[in-house]
Amino acid sequence: MNDPNWQELLAEMQAGAQDVTHPFRYATLATLGLEQLPRLRTIVIREFDPEELRITFYTDSRSKKILHIKENNKVSLLCFHPGLMLQLRFEGLAVRERSEDVLAHYRDLVPEPTRIEYRSAQTPGSVIDGPERVEYLDRDDYFSVIHVLPFKIEYLRLNRPRHKRIRYSKRQDGWKGEFLVP
Ligand SMILES: Cc1cc2nc3c(=O)[nH]c(=O)nc-3n(C[C@H](O)[C@H](O)[C@H](O)COP(=O)(O)O)c2cc1C
Repeated sequence: MNDPNWQELLAEMQAGAQDVTHPFRYATLATLGLEQLPRLRTIVIREFDPEELRITFYTDSRSKKILHIKENNKVSLLCFHPGLMLQLRFEGLAVRERSEDVLAHYRDLVPEPTRIEYRSAQTPGSVIDGPERVEYLDRDDYFSVIHVLPFKIEYLRLNRPRHKRIRYSKRQDGWKGEFLVP
């Protein structure tokens, strides 16, 4: 799409996935809980594919978000850039990566000391007597990869006197943008 706002969106998302200091490195992921309660949490965007608009993050397969996604794979992701006053809201489908080869590829990108985050012996979210009570396995059984495939993206740029709000929707023939009242 030859739209400068769309190009900016793609460029900032790519920068977020590559630059650890970029605000779009982090996103807030919302899933719908079993009691219809939205649950929010921060995730690190590990990869952004500008062709597919695919957003990838890592997690522990025992986490609540995985349970939620199994029940309802419609999710939202929110990114905010305070320097640009730019908010991006993604709505899409979360898909768990199942290919062992692809999982191995992502796992190999995780430095050894960081792998511990997916290796707790106890299930994430279970009660313990103190942080020092967490034990770790030496296996990567719970490392998992989730891709979010957006079907709608909302761009909001606060810039007085004219804020800019654009809704991008995925159609059969590609993405279409329309301006909205901010
Ligand atoms: C800065 C930061 C980055 C995080 N990145 C991730 C991440 O990439 N993947 C993940 O599963 N959890 C990440 N977390 C932890 C989640 O926010 C959340 O607490 C945890 O995954 C449990 O969420 P759940 O029980 O809703 O599944 C991060 C937390 C912080 C503070």
